[in-house]
Amino acid sequence: MLDESAHSLTRRPRRLRQSAAHRALVREAHVSASDLIQPLFVEEAAGGGAGRTPIAAMPGQYRFSVSALVEEAGRLAALGIPGVALFPAISPDLKDAEARHALDEDGLYPRAIRALKAAHPEMLVMTDVALDPYSSDGHDGLVLGGRIHNDRTLDVLAAMAVLHAQAGADFVAPSDMMDGRVAAIRGALDGAGFTDVGILSYTAKYASAFYGPFRHALSSAPRPREGVPADKKTYQMDPANGREALLEAELDVAEGADVLMVKPGLPYLDVVSALKAHFPAHPVAVYNVSGEYAMVKAAVAAGYLEERGVVMETLLSMKRAGADIILTYHAKDAAVWLREGTHG
Ligand code: PBG
Repeated sequence: MLDESAHSLTRRPRRLRQSAAHRALVREAHVSASDLIQPLFVEEAAGGGAGRTPIAAMPGQYRFSVSALVEEAGRLAALGIPGVALFPAISPDLKDAEARHALDEDGLYPRAIRALKAAHPEMLVMTDVALDPYSSDGHDGLVLGGRIHNDRTLDVLAAMAVLHAQAGADFVAPSDMMDGRVAAIRGALDGAGFTDVGILSYTAKYASAFYGPFRHALSSAPRPREGVPADKKTYQMDPANGREALLEAELDVAEGADVLMVKPGLPYLDVVSALKAHFPAHPVAVYNVSGEYAMVKAAVAAGYLEERGVVMETLLSMKRAGADIILTYHAKDAAVWLREGTHG
């Protein structure tokens, strides 16, 4: 045997890496199915009777009909996934500049929420509060007088949140980035008696190029009108700014947010880590978005990356950075791998 004591090293970090048991004993971060939320898309008459329409840029993801959505949620629940984040694909003829369909209580979205909660009452349903799926402008706020009108948008968002709560939402998740929306929503929910409905706030949502496949899936990309450009840079955060996320978090906490979320995920783990450090008592969520998913899927399809390893390492890195909750399109696959114990 080769003599390893030729050098008298007293500190040998490799000592704790020598076997799987050693490594498991000192592992700092863990991923479990209970950390994961699966985003799901719902569409009227999806797949022309087949119940689901595949999303081209997001292989393995679908726009589900309401009944197929309910079935999928049942499979996720059986895998130990505690909740879903729901997004609606709204037919173009129902979109207008005021996003009026967002407040239709017989619309696709409230019907989907009611069906999910009726079939799977234990499953948490998180709803998206923003105007873009319903707006002919594709913006999260109202386009009025040549700008995105912050305060007029708040009234619609607050009414949407109440509608979602009435349909059975456990959490409403404002993804719009208007100033003051958490306070407006909390006030409206409490006023309507929904004190137990939580707010998962998109606290630090960046004007990111990683949302492309999602916007394509919902045909919700912003369009220029009245001098308002086809981007979301006047409300979503500048990708250059990390410290500014602390201001957003301070406001969200003061306004009553229950969970603080950072979005996208991998390129913004410094922000996740900063929020956890500054707000240790608040659950922090991260959204591993559509573009991140598409990149992994494309590289896997090309044979450049091994899917399980890359996905589990990605999710683990999010936990290590300080996230308590991960919204990810990989949730279902990851839950299967965790159950099988085949993730390495
Ligand atoms: C819009 C919304 C977006 C996403 C979630 N809610 C897109 C956007 O802001 O344009 C993106 C999610 C993803 O890319 O997976 N309110």
